[in-house]
Amino acid sequence: MLRNDKLAEWDRENFFHPSTHLAAHARGDTPSRIIKTASGCHIEDRDGQKLLDAFAGLYCVNVGYGRQEIAEAIAAQAKELAYYHSYVGHGTEASITLSRMILDRAPDHMSKVYFGLGGSDANETNIKLVWYYNNILNRPEKKKIISRWRGYHGSGLMTGSLTGLELFHKKFDLPLSQVLHTEAPYYFRRADTAQSEADFVAHCAAELEAMIDREGADTIAAFIAEPLLGTGGIVPPPAGYWEAIQPILQKHDILLIADEVVTGFGRLGTMFGSEHYGLKPDLITIAKGLTSAYAPLSGSIVSDKMWKVLEQGTDENGPIGHGWTYSAHPIGAAAGVANLELIDKLGLVDNAGTVGKYLNEQMHAALGDHPNVGEIRGEGMLCAVEFVADRDSRTFFDPSEKIGPQVSAALLGFGVIGRAMPQGDILGFAPPFCLTRAEADEVVSKTVEALKVVFK
Ligand SMILES: Cc1ncc(COP(=O)(O)O)c(C=O)c1O
Repeated sequence: MLRNDKLAEWDRENFFHPSTHLAAHARGDTPSRIIKTASGCHIEDRDGQKLLDAFAGLYCVNVGYGRQEIAEAIAAQAKELAYYHSYVGHGTEASITLSRMILDRAPDHMSKVYFGLGGSDANETNIKLVWYYNNILNRPEKKKIISRWRGYHGSGLMTGSLTGLELFHKKFDLPLSQVLHTEAPYYFRRADTAQSEADFVAHCAAELEAMIDREGADTIAAFIAEPLLGTGGIVPPPAGYWEAIQPILQKHDILLIADEVVTGFGRLGTMFGSEHYGLKPDLITIAKGLTSAYAPLSGSIVSDKMWKVLEQGTDENGPIGHGWTYSAHPIGAAAGVANLELIDKLGLVDNAGTVGKYLNEQMHAALGDHPNVGEIRGEGMLCAVEFVADRDSRTFFDPSEKIGPQVSAALLGFGVIGRAMPQGDILGFAPPFCLTRAEADEVVSKTVEALKVVFK
């Protein structure tokens, strides 16, 4: 029992929830969801209802809930030193240790880690570093950033602009003018259904080259991308995509920012998505899985090539004018150290790969022939089911029918959390890495039941 029986009322009266229909929530049209406790892959609400969280919060509680090792590391850090800043060369045992642990796991050509609080601010940092880099190299015009439609990079001013989803732009006067969007590597939704996968990859590459030619390579600083589209629909890239894109960036001296907020620290069954798809990024964005969300912490991992220029910049201009009060917060850093140790100790990256593969196979077996399932796709511990009105003609539902949200609501009724992805009728799964095969079976069987409710 919760101590306060007015919580639902106070929630509607006082709490501005992110990514929420504000008016509907304030009116009470949607239920308040007050979560009280959690363990492993399950959360429990204040009424004692247990739910299998097959989205790990917001694909972030990678080690699962209730890990005492991390809770104790946080408590010990808070008792010994709850805070000190990291400006002008200050650090703590936790923040220094964590930067070392990250670089031990990151691709070899990476050099340093800057710590922030969440994925959005880490990407804001990355864009500032890219601009600073080109100013130091005396290329003041080389500043535009290319992102992809359906990419998700956060919801700040710059990061909301980089995000290629309509909802994050509409009525916010975004995107900012320095941001350009190119084709999403989303084969299932290709405009020309006659295109083979290889043709479609060639088309994505040609679109990118055409944009660079049109704008002028000397105006384009960086390309930002998730190794695999996440919030845009959980879409693994078509075969050969990264092999086609990276040489174009190299040819035009365009930096690559790999946004690994979702894929970093094991979600694809490999430590980083860059390793998984053979990327050689100049910056890597990390957050979520860095602490499994036990405390807020993000990071920008900077390559050797960029680091040398940043050093040169401070020799010429003085200290870098960038920092947050809470950069490298010791409590976040202590959570990060304990989290990465736990991932290793329990072999969770391997589990994400093997149980994730099992989840995808079982989902295919159960729903591969369903008349309203257009595609089932995934990689590692990620799986998505995309719904269509007609399979043969690949006709999508009208968005006003809200098929994705209907399916996720029906699934919730059966005790499983999946996420209706924000654009398109797509049910996404990103469970904690500790998911068991029995729990994967439950996700699949309850999804089958949910589809029976929606597609009667
Ligand atoms: C790939 C990616 N980048 C950035 C972000 C933004 O992170 P945050 O919500 O912590 O600001 C997210 C969040 O889902 C993400 O998926």
